Amino acid sequence: MSKRIIIAIDGPAGAGKSTLAKRVAARMGFIYIDTGAMYRAVALWSRNLGVGWDDYHRLEQLAREAEIELTRDNRVLLNSEDVSEAIRAPEISQGASIVSAVPGVRRALVAKQQRMGETTSVVMEGRDIGTVVFPQAEVKVFLDASPEVRAERRVKDLKARGVEADFAEVYREMKQRDERDSTRPDSPLRQAPDAMYLDSSGMTESEVEEALLRIARERTSNGKEVQR
Ligand code: DC
Repeated sequence: MSKRIIIAIDGPAGAGKSTLAKRVAARMGFIYIDTGAMYRAVALWSRNLGVGWDDYHRLEQLAREAEIELTRDNRVLLNSEDVSEAIRAPEISQGASIVSAVPGVRRALVAKQQRMGETTSVVMEGRDIGTVVFPQAEVKVFLDASPEVRAERRVKDLKARGVEADFAEVYREMKQRDERDSTRPDSPLRQAPDAMYLDSSGMTESEVEEALLRIARERTSNGKEVQR
């Protein structure tokens, strides 16, 4: 019988999780799931509706009601509208970090994420995948990099999307987000005890990919018995 595989990638902002997750999903033929995009979609929706980031009750309701679709070509749809670019704005990055600390929002989105990984093999990236969403994941990686490298990568990403970005500003906002994501009481960012720690600071994208694929192959009988 073939086996469904979950690859969990957690780590702070700018560590290279999305790049790694997309590459590994393509190599293994798995579905890629960006859970940060889901928190961003809820932050965007609440901002557009004028819901305050301290209105926990409404935020939880929005998280439950949001129809979030992550398409195979990596677009993000919120209630059928393509919000792929809108959710990447810096103020939505901060908003996502704020709404993701609300326990009701987490409950709603974690349930959606668990359903997404129920029937098919996935590469899922976020902050709490190996600890909370799929603690039984076959492969877990905690991807890290120095704050300077992470901020540099963020600046490059933003510029590539045509967004003006200043290193000092991005660095400050990223540290603020890291601090909030790691100190919140509900599901803070932390490494699962059985996760492999990878510091990508001095590594190329393909080196990081190879390191993860090695582990994935060991744990999945060379991918032979894997259900896609
Ligand atoms: O990965 P990202 O930068 O797109 O995530 C945006 C915010 O969402 C991040 O600051 C913390 C939150 N997040 C979370 O709390 N849990 C996840 N599994 C993914 C993201």
